[in-house]
Amino acid sequence: MARAIVYTEIGTPDVLHLIEIPEPAAGPGEVVVHIESAGVNPLDAKLRRGARPSPPIVEPRRVGFDGAGVVAGIGEGVTGFAIGDRVVIDNVLGTYATALAVPVSKVFRLSDGVTTAEGAALGIPIGTAYQCLRSLGVSKGDTLLVHAGSGAVGQAAVQFAVLWGAKVIATGSPERFDQLRSLGAEPVAYGEGLTERVRDLTPEGVTVALDCAGTDEAIRTSLALVEDSARIATIVRGPDAADFGIRAFSGGSPVPLTEQEQAWRQEAIPLTINLIEAGDFQVELGPELPLADAATAHELIERHAANGKIILVP
Ligand SMILES: NC(=O)c1ccc[n+]([C@@H]2O[C@H](COP(=O)([O-])OP(=O)(O)OC[C@H]3O[C@@H](n4cnc5c(N)ncnc54)[C@H](OP(=O)(O)O)[C@@H]3O)[C@@H](O)[C@H]2O)c1
Repeated sequence: MARAIVYTEIGTPDVLHLIEIPEPAAGPGEVVVHIESAGVNPLDAKLRRGARPSPPIVEPRRVGFDGAGVVAGIGEGVTGFAIGDRVVIDNVLGTYATALAVPVSKVFRLSDGVTTAEGAALGIPIGTAYQCLRSLGVSKGDTLLVHAGSGAVGQAAVQFAVLWGAKVIATGSPERFDQLRSLGAEPVAYGEGLTERVRDLTPEGVTVALDCAGTDEAIRTSLALVEDSARIATIVRGPDAADFGIRAFSGGSPVPLTEQEQAWRQEAIPLTINLIEAGDFQVELGPELPLADAATAHELIERHAANGKIILVP
């Protein structure tokens, strides 16, 4: 038998339970991955507590979208993968588990130089950061403001933008400033007076902004500093972004991602694996917890009580 975390009602983290499930089999076009690390995202907790709408729960609902492990089964028609290959799973529901059947289009080979924990930290944060910056056209000569630059999406956005030649200002708590500096960003504390602090740091002006925080302050600051509102985006305030005249990518937005935006989210994963292998990109890892402690992982992420990506280990 395999094991998986599920819930049957919306609620606090203690609705999460570890159960036994049949070993998954690889259907046509799928591979089965024995999961070694699952990445915990804020979205997992938002869905569990009902902060993001989802259809009624009619059977135990699986949890988690990101993970990494080893190919253990290959379905009909699958080429290019062999049993034992190390892979990253990109955005497939159910990664809080010992094993998962995954469409082959959603797995990417992991290089020897990248750990499974690092692989499990890629999916949603890396795809989101890369797509947002491509959609916003960030390039050399830009000054980018990243709200919540110290988080998983924010740190990825900082690194892509620096690699592409932009100057980056990133918000975070003061104890996270060294981490932000190490990635090439100029750190600034969020909280009252943010707009003035960013203005002082950027006499040349801010040309583009990405909000990964979702606070009114982040939106107000972006609107005050960036002349062209088409170059302001949020990944958190999807439901009301249009009221501010800014762009939103997922995060509850009524506007779905375009095919190009979805393609960018996928393209980011193999590209980032290569960057990590080359020593040109890093993912910050946080606490590792046993799969059975998924509820603790959700408490930590909801309280912002852990730095770095929380990883569940089956
Ligand atoms: N739309 C999408 O497709 C999409 C994709 C991925 C994520 N998201 C959303 O984006 C957000 C960030 O995700 P993540 O994975 O990067 O989260 P994360 O790794 O948990 O990071 C949370 C970040 O929020 C910052 N923060 C906490 N309180 C803040 C405040 N009052 N003002 C400004 N920043 C504050 C933290 O800064 P310190 O730790 O320095 O205090 C940290 O940088 C979440 O809401 C998530 O659901 C959306």
